Parts: sequence; C-alpha cells; structure tokens
Amino acid sequence: MQLPYAEPFRIKMVETIKRSTREEREQWIKDAKYNLFNLKSEQVFVDLLTDSGTGAMSDKQWSEMMIGDESYAGASSFYKMKDAIKNILGFDYFLPTHQGRAAENVLFSVLVKEGDIVPGNSHFDTTKGHIEYRKATAVDCTIDEAFDTTIQHDFKGNINLEKLEKTFNDYPMAKIPMVIVTVTCNSSGGQPVSMQNIKDVHALCKKYGTLVMFDSARFAENAYFIKKREAGYADKSIKEIVKEMYTYADAMTMSSKKDAIVNMGGFIGFKDEDLYKQASVFGIIFEGFVTYGGMSGRDMNALAQGLDEGTEFPFLESRVEQVAYLGNKLKEYGVPVQEPFGGHAIFVDAKRFLPHLPKENFVAQTLAVELYLEGGVRGVEIGAILADRDPVTRENRYPALELLRLAIPRRTYTNNHMDYIAASLKNVFDRKEGITSGVKILKEAPIMRHFTVELDRL
Ligand code: F0G
Repeated sequence: MQLPYAEPFRIKMVETIKRSTREEREQWIKDAKYNLFNLKSEQVFVDLLTDSGTGAMSDKQWSEMMIGDESYAGASSFYKMKDAIKNILGFDYFLPTHQGRAAENVLFSVLVKEGDIVPGNSHFDTTKGHIEYRKATAVDCTIDEAFDTTIQHDFKGNINLEKLEKTFNDYPMAKIPMVIVTVTCNSSGGQPVSMQNIKDVHALCKKYGTLVMFDSARFAENAYFIKKREAGYADKSIKEIVKEMYTYADAMTMSSKKDAIVNMGGFIGFKDEDLYKQASVFGIIFEGFVTYGGMSGRDMNALAQGLDEGTEFPFLESRVEQVAYLGNKLKEYGVPVQEPFGGHAIFVDAKRFLPHLPKENFVAQTLAVELYLEGGVRGVEIGAILADRDPVTRENRYPALELLRLAIPRRTYTNNHMDYIAASLKNVFDRKEGITSGVKILKEAPIMRHFTVELDRL
C-alpha cells in the first residue's frame, strides 16, 4: 500500500478554541454589521479569514526569537535575514518592512508615478490600492481560463502574453515601470504561474525594457505546483525551483506572513543596487533604518528560519495536500469550487452556489455570512465588496468571479477541522434555495472598503 502523506511535525503546544450556538452567532454577526472582519476572534470556531500571519511557528523559530539582536543598526538578525534571502531567493540587496503592503509602499514610491500603467496577473488588493493611490492604473493580463472556475488548467495564474504585449503597445513604455507577477496569484484563486510563463514574461519585459517584479507572498507554494505539474521539474528540489524562478525577477515584494511562516514581517528584494538605494530613502521614512525597517530583530531571526522551513518539500506537500483534502470533500458534497484547488485556500464559487441571487446583493458576502451562522467558520469574500468602486466612475465593480475564500493557516488545523468546515458548508448548500435575499451596504470607506464596510441583510 502506498503510504499517505503526513504532517512532517508533531504538536507541542495547543490553543483552545470554543464552539458557540447559532443564536449567539446570529447576534454577533448582526453586531458586526455582517462584516466578518468585525467579529472578535473568540466568536469564531475555525478561522479561515486568512492564511496571513496566522500560521504556527516551529520550535526552531521560537528559539530564534530568543536570540534576536535588537540593535538599531547592523543587528546580526539583519544579516541572518540577508543570508537567507541571498541563499534562498538570490537577491543581493534587501530592505526589511513590517509586512507586504509596506514593501509595496516603499518600492512603488520609487517606481510608480501618476498616469503610469502597471500590468500584472490579478493584482492583490493592497497592490492595486498602492497603484491607484498614486493615480496609476493596474492592468490585469491574467489568462482568461482563470475566470472560469470549471476549467482545468495547471497554471491559472499565468499572464496572457498577447494581453501583456498589447498593453506594451498601447502605452509609451516610459509609463510602464514594471510588470507584477504574483506567485501564486491570490485573487484568481491561489493559482500558480508556470516557470515557462515566468520565462516568457521576463523575455517580453526585457525586449520592451521594463522591470519584472514578483509579488512573492506564496512563492514556495508556486514552486511546489511547478514541481508537481510542469515537465522537467519533478526531480528538482523546491529550493532549486525557487532559485530558478527568481533568476527572472528584477525585484520582489514579500509578505512574510505567508510562506515564511511568521506572524508579522516583510521585505523587498533587489538585484540592482541603485534601485535599492533609491528605495532605502522611502524605507527609512516609512519603515525605519535599513537594517530593521519595521521589524524587531527577533522577528527577522524567525523569518530567516521560516524561509528555510517554508521551502522544504515535506512541509509544502502536507500543506497543499491539506487544502486539497478540503477541496475534495467539498467536491464530493457537490459544492462548486475553483479548480484546480489553490495552494493556500479553497475558493467557493458563490455565483454557482447561489445562482438565483443578483450580483447587486453581494453573493459571496452573503455566503460568507451563512457559513459563519452555520458553523462558526469565518471565510472571506473575494468579490464585489473587495473589488471596490471604479476610482473614476465610482460605480461598483463586479468582478468576473464572486468567491468565498477559505484560507487555511499553516500548521494550525487538523483534517478533522477540514471535515468540520466541509460539513458546515454542505449544510448551507443543502438549504441554499432558502437563501433568497442577500446584503446591502450601509457605510463604506472610499478605498479598501471591505475591511470596514457596514452591511445589513436585505
Ligand atoms: N500580495 C499578496 C499576493 C497577498 O496575498 C497579500 C496579503 C499582500 C501582497 C499584502 O501583504 O498583508 O503582509 O501587507 N494577503 C493577505 C490575504 C492579507 O489574506 O490574502 P500584507
């Protein structure tokens, strides 16, 4: 018999979580204005809001926390992080930042000007936010297959080269400071980008003369998919694949809260010393001196250790296969999900789940509320509320996909939790015809509204 994969760790410390009654949840979600970000964490049984900063650190990471060097300048922890970034990702220069969006803020302060065009593959919302905040435009060049959850495609994060070249031809290249390749592509469902596509995008960018920047939050999961799905990579280690991926990047931004398995932290990697020096000025203003940039020494130590652990095959296998375990359970129950399954999350196709609801009723948010009511499981809407309004027309933007994301924190929940989540969603699926209304917006912020939006039931 073929032995199944199993977690390459055992559990040394646990944290109690509590179940609640449906009546309690009815009250709590009402008090939270039907916005799951407003719930207290103790009102949640299984928390799938995000896989960002919610993973469990290892004993080695905790040990590293004890020997962090908190010197303002030149801390050994900075050099530990520098070595890890050089060894694993191949960048000579880097700036620490407190998280991923801070890395975007610092780098884009150098690169993105008013009127610029920044092509990419379904830019993450903070990335798009930092582009639009600078009165520039993010152009989505993701392949069309990504927008149909029923199509099987190994690399739905890929960039369509014709769309990219058309963008290069439609605008003066001086207005296109970089192309952003998001690995894996979160907004299109945790979908990977193939090595071939990375190579082709890089070649096109060099032909036209622009930078390639990787938004790298889940780069290790991307490498895992390349190993599993792309010809020629089965026998390569994750670290070898990662190294190769980054030979095609001029710069990277990293939210270390994902694949570096820390609770807080980020950085920017640079190949070019001059760009690093320009960004350092903004790093110092926004984040702190170049050798700590918003991070404690202990956190830089844990990050360096996490980068190593996060790029080990047995860990990635157990992580990505746990996500797939949930995906397969849901499929068995007939729940429509994005396929192939994402690396960090299962994305439920809310339009196919609740086809009778109009998009104006915020279908994925409605489903998120129903799942919470059913089992105390907190997911997150990746749909029209997240998509914000068009910055010019102020009309609601209704994206092609209305998704409920169930993001799985790293090394945190067991497969029994996956069974519990799947059963909760099955119960909602069994009573879907009874879900006839939806939600409406009472109050919203002008940008990134989904965090603070206040809703009511229709
Ligand atoms: N890029 C991607 C692809 C992300 O998924 C995120 C965060 C960021 C950048 C920003 O990083 O949160 O450290 O500032 N994604 C989280 C999520 C919030 O839930 O998917 P950050």
